[in-house]
Amino acid sequence: IRKIPLFQDLNEEELKSISALFFERKYKKNTILFLEEDEGEELFIVRSGTVKIYRIDNNKQITLALFRSGDFFGEMSIIEKGSTRSANAETLEPCVIYTLKRSTFYEYVDRNPGLCMRLLEITMNRLRRANEQIRNLTFLDVRTRVLKIVHQLSKEYGEPKAGGVIQISIKLTHQEIANMVGTVRESVTKVLQELQDDRIISIRNKMIRVESMEGLVNKIVD
Ligand code: CMP
Repeated sequence: IRKIPLFQDLNEEELKSISALFFERKYKKNTILFLEEDEGEELFIVRSGTVKIYRIDNNKQITLALFRSGDFFGEMSIIEKGSTRSANAETLEPCVIYTLKRSTFYEYVDRNPGLCMRLLEITMNRLRRANEQIRNLTFLDVRTRVLKIVHQLSKEYGEPKAGGVIQISIKLTHQEIANMVGTVRESVTKVLQELQDDRIISIRNKMIRVESMEGLVNKIVD
């Protein structure tokens, strides 16, 4: 619980008391946690696994965010009174999730300016990323968007392996990657094939391994 950035400023006692109010639930892979327009009753905190936040339009999906260990989500509809869930949430891996009732969350936010600031800071960072996503979708071609998402994923979820290789430690289908950058699966397959042919990435165990970060960065700039 100490590793949850949102609760970073709580003291030992407060951490203990808030964690006693968590409900812990386990979910299988591909479980829908809530749907857009649902009533928001609780805040979610990821203990382990990955959750995808997405919207659907005309059978097409756009992924807005991935949340992993220590991240929270579901705050928007519980803070904005009278609103509903702004997006869908689904597990991409088996997950352990903590939930916190809306009233409990309010109580702690009320009492802790530190918690409030942390919430704002994380929200600002998400807004910044959303702006980046708008810019990429508006101005970049599909190939560059795919290259950039591979780079971004390797920065965020990369684990160092032997020989300076960085493994993106999350199994994503080409379709999932396509949903992140607003394109179709075929385009992702094509770019990933190009990267494999150039020995910039390899795929092991359905996970992407960046063999040459320099090669990847050069492709984005070119
Ligand atoms: P809520 O609207 O309750 O339910 C969906 C949740 O997804 C939302 O709260 C946020 O926690 C999260 N979310 C929605 N849009 C974004 C986004 N653009 N970036 C990151 N998280 C988001």
